[in-house]
Amino acid sequence: MSETVKQSQSFAQPEANTAQTELGSYRHFMQKEIFEQPRAIADSLKGIETVTPAWFGERAAAIFSKIDSVLILACGTSYHAGQAARHWIESLVRLPCHVEIANEYRFRDGVPNPNALVIVISQSGETADTLAALTQAKKLGHTYTLSICNVAASSMMRQTELRYLTRAGAEIGIASTKVFTTQLVALFLLTLALAKERGRLTAEEETFWLRALRRLPSAMQATLELEPQIIAWAKTFAHKAHALFLGRGLNFPIAQEGALKLKETSYIHAEAFPVGELRHGPMALIDDGMPVVATMPNSALFEKTKTVLREARMRGAELFVVADFDTPFTDDDGFHVLRVPEQESLLSPILHAAPLQLLAYHTAVLRGTDVDKPRSLTKSVMEE
Ligand code: AGP
Repeated sequence: MSETVKQSQSFAQPEANTAQTELGSYRHFMQKEIFEQPRAIADSLKGIETVTPAWFGERAAAIFSKIDSVLILACGTSYHAGQAARHWIESLVRLPCHVEIANEYRFRDGVPNPNALVIVISQSGETADTLAALTQAKKLGHTYTLSICNVAASSMMRQTELRYLTRAGAEIGIASTKVFTTQLVALFLLTLALAKERGRLTAEEETFWLRALRRLPSAMQATLELEPQIIAWAKTFAHKAHALFLGRGLNFPIAQEGALKLKETSYIHAEAFPVGELRHGPMALIDDGMPVVATMPNSALFEKTKTVLREARMRGAELFVVADFDTPFTDDDGFHVLRVPEQESLLSPILHAAPLQLLAYHTAVLRGTDVDKPRSLTKSVMEE
């Protein structure tokens, strides 16, 4: 068997074993699924020795070399994964990448680009809006399509030429957690495959990124061990009515996902903004005791971000920061800081997602909500 064929994905859904559908020692499925992330990420990387477009289907190599841009369509958590992918695709592949909420795209009189690769991302593969957006893209003349789904036998997987099955396993909690991080891993693998096919990934870079990916499961495990610190944060959040989430660049979609998790599970009103937008309006929301969560990698923009956060603190905000292991804070910054383990900067946002999931989970538990089945929500939005 050739290397390429050996590494291509089997599109058969692995059996959901009893361990996945039973709670075991956990109190809720959401908590269990958050803690399954090291395993889910490891499963996503199983058997990978080299980067190949064949992960995405037989015709992927031919299609990846032809396209001139990427259009990602998705809703909710899957949309946030797509937004993160945009940063990877643009910086490593140098392909323009647009990301649009599927329920907006489907009704928009958009201008098609038949040379774009249309990617639909979905946990269920049955989300009516994302399926309708895919139909709309095809109607407008798009022919290159790829689905990234967690359900092999879903409608979405049948309707695209290329497909990729995320390896999260059955996700029972309505608030998506492990699917989000496996979507991110899938999208990073896609970025590498696009880059390789288009001559933008040297052999050294390929080895470098595969090594970095292989460190992710243990880094995620170490991140989850920070749970006691998050439980202490949750005690503050449980008494709040509002919260703001901030991030920049690749970390902004992580902040958006953190806000979505908190509102879904604890019913606290939470909004996410890019850090730089704060002074353009949302700063007016900040008064005494407003909790502000920032996801802050050690990037070149760190000092600029810190200046904005200090301003928020002067106006009464209480700052909760998820940082990289080496983000340069000092004790007199006056923020609550939680550091994720060492990881390549392009991958560290995957780790930043986990403390925000745990924060939502523990806040919801303290508020006594139905964590696995939040009011008014269903696992898959199949109705119009
Ligand atoms: C995630 O926590 C939400 N329940 C929701 O936003 C979900 O991600 C969205 O409805 C999209 O679902 P899909 O991934 O199955 O298409």
